[in-house]
Amino acid sequence: MRMIAAMAALALAACGAPAGRGAKTPEPATKVEMGAEIALLRPDSVGGTTVDEALWNRRSSREFAAEPLSLEELSGVVWAAAGINRPANDHLTAPSALGLYPIRTYAFFREGVYSYDARAHKLTRVLEGDHRAVSGAQPFVATAPLNLVFVADLSVYEGKAIPAEHVRFLCGQDAACYVENANLYAAGHGLKSVTRGSASDRLLETLGLDPARYFFALAVSVGK
Ligand SMILES: Cc1cc2nc3c(=O)[nH]c(=O)nc-3n(C[C@H](O)[C@H](O)[C@H](O)COP(=O)(O)O)c2cc1C
Repeated sequence: MRMIAAMAALALAACGAPAGRGAKTPEPATKVEMGAEIALLRPDSVGGTTVDEALWNRRSSREFAAEPLSLEELSGVVWAAAGINRPANDHLTAPSALGLYPIRTYAFFREGVYSYDARAHKLTRVLEGDHRAVSGAQPFVATAPLNLVFVADLSVYEGKAIPAEHVRFLCGQDAACYVENANLYAAGHGLKSVTRGSASDRLLETLGLDPARYFFALAVSVGK
């Protein structure tokens, strides 16, 4: 048992798990290099406002500056939404019904579309070019610096005796947890965000995803 605890502690340390909390640190601003992969920075436990302040500041914003997020901000908001906070068992910042984690996270930027690999805490490009408009159904989405799109993978529910309608409901609820984590990160770090329940009909086709297996669950636009 002690061995398992020691291994878990080692795994957390390897991932750069937080050492403490409370103090605020000014964030440096590193430009994101939009390559085939974007290695995100280790999650920080001492940045931003308190959770209480973030809750007071949480609101929907639909006007964003063209300025992209820094690597620190991008890393933080993606991790807050969909990152692993317990490397020992790969559990995430967001809860998931039955612990099944059906949500796949895509990041739409001006330069391309990336999928998020939570274990490696990196973004991998799946499409080049500006596809942001496809990630939503409102004009501001096409220019928002970052649109995080949460797609549910129904295959994780295969073999479970749960009615299809309820599965979709659970997936949507999972996605809402991811989105609210992103909203609170944004509010706590001086960023703007808005939850979005709408996407273009062409979203899955653009991502090359089979609509029999995947569906758009929810999205969040983030910017300054
Ligand atoms: C599930 C859900 C879906 C939403 N979808 C959209 C959307 O597609 N577009 C949008 O502009 N706002 C959307 N919103 C944001 C709401 O319009 C917003 O939360 C509401 O007007 C209250 O404003 P507040 O967030 O500033 O408190 C959505 C919110 C939720 C919870």
